[in-house]
Amino acid sequence: MTAQKPRILTGDTPTGRLHLGHWVGSVENRVALQDEYDCYFLIANMHAFTTRADKPGEIRESTIEIVKDWLACGIDPERASVVLQSEIPAIVELSWYFAMLIPFNRVMRNPTLKTEIEAKGLGDHYSFGFPLYAVGQCADILVFRPELVPVGEDQVAHIEMTREVARRFNQVYCDVDPQTEDADYVNAGGLFPIPAAKVGRIARLPGTDGVNKMSKSLNNAISLTDSPKQVKKKVGQIYTGRQSMDEPGDITNSLFQYVRAFIKDEGRIKELEDAYSKGDNIGDGHVKVEVASAISELLAPIQERRARYEAPGGDELIVEVIREGIKKATPMAEETLELAKSAMKLDFARRSISFT
Ligand code: TRP
Repeated sequence: MTAQKPRILTGDTPTGRLHLGHWVGSVENRVALQDEYDCYFLIANMHAFTTRADKPGEIRESTIEIVKDWLACGIDPERASVVLQSEIPAIVELSWYFAMLIPFNRVMRNPTLKTEIEAKGLGDHYSFGFPLYAVGQCADILVFRPELVPVGEDQVAHIEMTREVARRFNQVYCDVDPQTEDADYVNAGGLFPIPAAKVGRIARLPGTDGVNKMSKSLNNAISLTDSPKQVKKKVGQIYTGRQSMDEPGDITNSLFQYVRAFIKDEGRIKELEDAYSKGDNIGDGHVKVEVASAISELLAPIQERRARYEAPGGDELIVEVIREGIKKATPMAEETLELAKSAMKLDFARRSISFT
């Protein structure tokens, strides 16, 4: 019975197409965990408005694109629920209550927010809603009362804040003793489990500049939709600083992070590492050709699945998946909200959501 499985919630802000960093950091995990867990995958479209409120058309397009990427990667809407944030009102309501459980300065010290403010050059001109999204993210997660949140390393600070909010809610409104171990909160009468972050096998994949983390905005990303030719070209750009192929190479460089991330055969990885570190007549170019073909092999089935949604009528199929996902996710979200409100002595009336 699916209802008995432990739950997962995770998601992405629709900002553009997914790249290899997303795959190794989180998406691969999601696909693998679909059978063991009851999965909720959230499209954080409201969060996209925190920095692009003037671009609703772009946000809508990115929303459709990200669902195409998910399905292409192997997320199966029959087994998992694809959840559109803007259609789950319980998230917004919980965000408001959660905002009272966390000090303003604690939110502003969140290192992920600080990094984003810097990376996006927001200065002190960001909207009020921008830092609010971090509180909203606590609600995104907790409304599904999950055990696990598979995310990239950059999101761990948000999960830490979510854990703080969950403990606090349970202590304040469910009378759970603050000394309780994280794993015992629900047994002690708490509404919310204290969810754990699960970071993918490669926490930080460098971009093709060989320096920064892979990121679309830094123009160093290999997209999941890149053709073999584009992949070859981009992998060819990975900078290692190595001068000649008889010089002992450094197997901690970014090229070798790609070798370990994408070449499947462990024996071959060892051979390449041995030869490269000895300076055994093996050049960067040779290694890059093997890396590029391993990446294209990984991407081929993803692109094949994506083709179905790129054909005419593809967007309509995606909208249908989104509608079904909203219906599947709503009962859980509404149940959590009702339980939270009754813990807060706000149980004046009951309501239900209906779909037309
Ligand atoms: N902040 C995440 C990102 O930018 C997206 C996100 C929103 C999310 N809500 C979430 C991730 C809840 C995990 C859980 O990628």
